[in-house]
Amino acid sequence: MSGSKTATLTIDGQTINLPIQSGTLGPDVIDVKDVLAKGYFTFDPGFVATASCESKITYIDGDQGILLHRGYPIEQLATQSSYAEVCYLLLNGELPSASQLQEFSERVSNHTMVHEQLQFFYRGFRRDAHPMAVMCGVIGALSAFYHDSLDIKNPEHRNISAIRLIAKMPTIAAMCYKYSVGQPFIYPRNDLDYASNFLHMMFSTPCAETEVNPVLARAMDRIFILHADHEQNASTSTVRMAGSTDANPFACIAAGIAALWGPSHGGANEAVLRMLGEIGSADRVEDFVRRVKDKSDSTKLMGFGHRVYKNFDPRAKVMKQTCDEVLNALGIHDPQLELAMKLEEIALKDDYFVSRKLYPNVDFYSGIILKAIGIPMSMFTVIFALGRTPGWIAHWQEMIANPYKIARPRQLYTGATQRDYVRVDQR
Ligand code: SDX
Repeated sequence: MSGSKTATLTIDGQTINLPIQSGTLGPDVIDVKDVLAKGYFTFDPGFVATASCESKITYIDGDQGILLHRGYPIEQLATQSSYAEVCYLLLNGELPSASQLQEFSERVSNHTMVHEQLQFFYRGFRRDAHPMAVMCGVIGALSAFYHDSLDIKNPEHRNISAIRLIAKMPTIAAMCYKYSVGQPFIYPRNDLDYASNFLHMMFSTPCAETEVNPVLARAMDRIFILHADHEQNASTSTVRMAGSTDANPFACIAAGIAALWGPSHGGANEAVLRMLGEIGSADRVEDFVRRVKDKSDSTKLMGFGHRVYKNFDPRAKVMKQTCDEVLNALGIHDPQLELAMKLEEIALKDDYFVSRKLYPNVDFYSGIILKAIGIPMSMFTVIFALGRTPGWIAHWQEMIANPYKIARPRQLYTGATQRDYVRVDQR
């Protein structure tokens, strides 16, 4: 950060000079902590205009529809890189050399198995438990298996925890699916790449090893890349807040998974497919859009809108392209894709959406691809959590490796002023 400019705030004749800091890209920030000394708090519910931290990991320009990971455009990473490379990039700040990538990939592969005791956690859940409920529980419990490496001040402990989480998320996610369909858990294979291994654990059985379609494996890898990180979104901010209390990394990632579950955030991909199912056919799109625009109706166009993007989400464009590739490769004609495209076409011409700068986001098309791959709707947000894991960890590591304070916001109190207790027989 750099800065020599200041903002001047004058309140009741008092002048407060607030330093202005500049980053390498994006808006300058006003450092407001000095207002406290004058007896004020700043007020920004939902953190709409608040920069919560300094970061070097991801940059978003919402007006231009730009998303950079360590400076590299998401469009280039999604079409030219691999998820393993993007994990390394997010964690280390630079793209790996061939030998660095091989060493990283091998290290991850060698940590894909989970402790044999972990399988018994699943038995406590009903078979029809939502997989995100299982993920919250199992990931939070992972710390119970690694008491030897939970010193967050130790860089080696932080690094092995990062590898363990990236390596085990696919295994645990696939176990959620297998448990829900009553099939035995499938062990990971070290000879498969990350995405192929995940599809193997999802769809192989002890009776038949699934033959992973390379088109689907490539699409899965690209979906992981498109979800890998996204600046200070709600779940990443949750991970940072949990990390600021010195909680262990498994607890912090479990907190991020819980926050991601909400339909306004990572749960939107599942909500989009439910929405498309509810609409049913193209001739009912106009009526649905009418409901969305009706203020007395709480219906939202899921997969549309974004706190930051006021232009196309660059991820949505790549996701749509991937959708076309996968459906064509599989020879699938999915009427829900046509329905989604009709919905997008109508919304992008309607002033309600245009005036509010509501465009398709990362969740609008992802579910259609996941469905084509054979992944059930209930697993869609689990896939999002799996893809987002390196981003959550990179932000956690960036915070812990630099000076930080426990996150403890204040409030505007509008409740009762002080009053004395009245005994129940006097009320
Ligand atoms: C993700 O933050 C991230 O980076 C998140 C994410 C990531 O990678 O981590 O990108 C992933 O969460 C993507 C978003 C997925 N969620 C959805 O698709 C759910 C539908 N979208 C909305 O719930 C909403 O757009 C949000 C939550 C995404 C953003 O909400 P904001 O920024 O608080 O915007 P807002 O609610 O203030 O909306 C402004 C206006 C309002 O109307 P008015 O009060 O001005 O009349 O736009 C309307 C909203 O009602 N609006 C919508 C809408 N989204 C906003 N109206 C209908 N359908 C929608 N989808």
